Amino acid sequence: MDVKTIGFVGTGVLASSMIHGIKGSPELSRTRVVVSPRNADMASDLASRYENVTMARSNQDVLDASDWVVISVIPSVAESVVRELRFRPDHTVISVLATKRLSVVRSWISPAERLFRMVPMPFISLRTGPITLYPADDGVEEFFGHLGRVIVMDEEPQAELTNAITSVTNATYTVIKTVAEWGEKNGLPRDKSLDYTISYFEAMLSQISGDRSNRLPRLVEERTPGGMNDVVMRLIASRGGFDLWADGLDAAIKKCRADYCESAE
Ligand SMILES: NC(=O)c1ccc[n+]([C@@H]2O[C@H](COP(=O)([O-])OP(=O)(O)OC[C@H]3O[C@@H](n4cnc5c(N)ncnc54)[C@H](OP(=O)(O)O)[C@@H]3O)[C@@H](O)[C@H]2O)c1
Repeated sequence: MDVKTIGFVGTGVLASSMIHGIKGSPELSRTRVVVSPRNADMASDLASRYENVTMARSNQDVLDASDWVVISVIPSVAESVVRELRFRPDHTVISVLATKRLSVVRSWISPAERLFRMVPMPFISLRTGPITLYPADDGVEEFFGHLGRVIVMDEEPQAELTNAITSVTNATYTVIKTVAEWGEKNGLPRDKSLDYTISYFEAMLSQISGDRSNRLPRLVEERTPGGMNDVVMRLIASRGGFDLWADGLDAAIKKCRADYCESAE
């Protein structure tokens, strides 16, 4: 592993999730981590909680101490924050900016050239879930492979689509909450309804996780005509419930692309 020190410019929700994942990983826990002083509470909490995590005095100090640099500020401030930093040619730069293309970020980080786009999610703290990476790189894949399932994209627009897919998060949690609340309203004690519902959703996902391309379509169709599952499927489909999810994703990618247009102006 050639990363000795990984630095984060922007210490927010995603950066701290990545650091919790790194520090919880048996393979990566000894990696040195440097964080920028904003957000001060989060940065000092990370530095006091873990060995080999230090809070730098400035964003430039983060870069100067790091081999790999993760750009983890919000996209709207990224250009002004990153442009004023002096990168080295040997820096590896990882952008997690949801709405900035690599061509844009590349123009801010010269003379560094090794630049990657990544879409991690906060559950990286638990070292689980997909991590979009573009382009491919053995070292980056190996490192982040200890923090989740790295899925390498062939071209950057594919990374944008995975970014859009992550926008179903709140809607999906709301579905699970709606199901659990229905159980409660109809007489299940709240804790039992939550326990049952969450465990049921977890098991459904693990049932498809092995053979993704074959199991999912089979499981969608596997129901007794006229049975309870069939009744629910038909009712939701007849009211456009499933189409709405695709409509929501259309709206998400449209917003993402509109933000790129703004940034190109
Ligand atoms: N959260 C997600 O699920 C997720 C998923 C995929 C990608 N992303 C991407 O990850 C990036 C970070 O998202 P986030 O959710 O972690 O946002 P966040 O919690 O708002 O974190 C951004 C951090 O940047 C800090 N910051 C602001 N100006 C700064 C500066 N000049 N120098 C250094 N730090 C500065 C902020 O500090 P203050 O709090 O002091 O303002 C804040 O703590 C975004 O680009 C987003 O598109 C997020």
